[in-house]
Amino acid sequence: MPQTIKPLVAGNWKMNGSTAMLKEPRLLAAMMRDVKTKCDILVCPPAILTRRIKGVVKGSKIKVGGQDCHAAASGAHTGDISAEMLQDAGATYVIVGHSERRTNHKESDATVAAKAKAAHRAGLIAIICIGETLEQRKGGQTLAVLSEQLKGSIPEGSNAANTVIAYEPVWAIGTGLTASTAEVAEAHTHVRNDISKIMGEEGPKTRILYGGSVKPSNAVELMGAANVNGALVGGASLKAADFIGIIKAYM
Ligand code: 13P
Repeated sequence: MPQTIKPLVAGNWKMNGSTAMLKEPRLLAAMMRDVKTKCDILVCPPAILTRRIKGVVKGSKIKVGGQDCHAAASGAHTGDISAEMLQDAGATYVIVGHSERRTNHKESDATVAAKAKAAHRAGLIAIICIGETLEQRKGGQTLAVLSEQLKGSIPEGSNAANTVIAYEPVWAIGTGLTASTAEVAEAHTHVRNDISKIMGEEGPKTRILYGGSVKPSNAVELMGAANVNGALVGGASLKAADFIGIIKAYM
């Protein structure tokens, strides 16, 4: 990995969070005071907590992001949240195209690209997620699936400053299963080559995160795989004690 890439360790809280859980980012911010990391740190709570968490981590290097956004800036879209609203609430990043949204909300690559474009319009960094299902992996389609998702999900105008790619094998999410270091290296190197074709000279500088059952016990090993520039963490991001263990892999 080129020395110029600053890793990102991002927590995706998914549909978890409450006022009571604000103690975790507060604790994380306190723990961070004694830790010298070379990475960026991000927490993506449900949007209802964006502003609260922003306040709780004030003065620390922890950034706050969203988990999804609508492609439009505003309008008649009941229940949706725009990238501009996230930005207004203090977010600097937003995850788009998470496999749970691609599956549960039938989001296509084109929808994901439109959302990433909206993120850029609002001045947010888009974390564009891709990943194959177990069936696709077993069928030897992994690299082709990743190529197709990248081709369709990265909007024009994407660069290393406004875009992060997250490779999350669907079968590794929330299952305790992780891809082997060799599998991660193969996928990430493939993603690196593809984004270098799509994004030109920005491709080699763009961060590629691994996600799927990342925990303190496997973070160092996963980080060591070729072209891994950080982690997108679900379950293990909910507790400060676990999340700091992953962040420490990037010291
Ligand atoms: P887990 O870390 O819980 O497997 O979730 C990964 C994920 O989906 C992060 O976006």
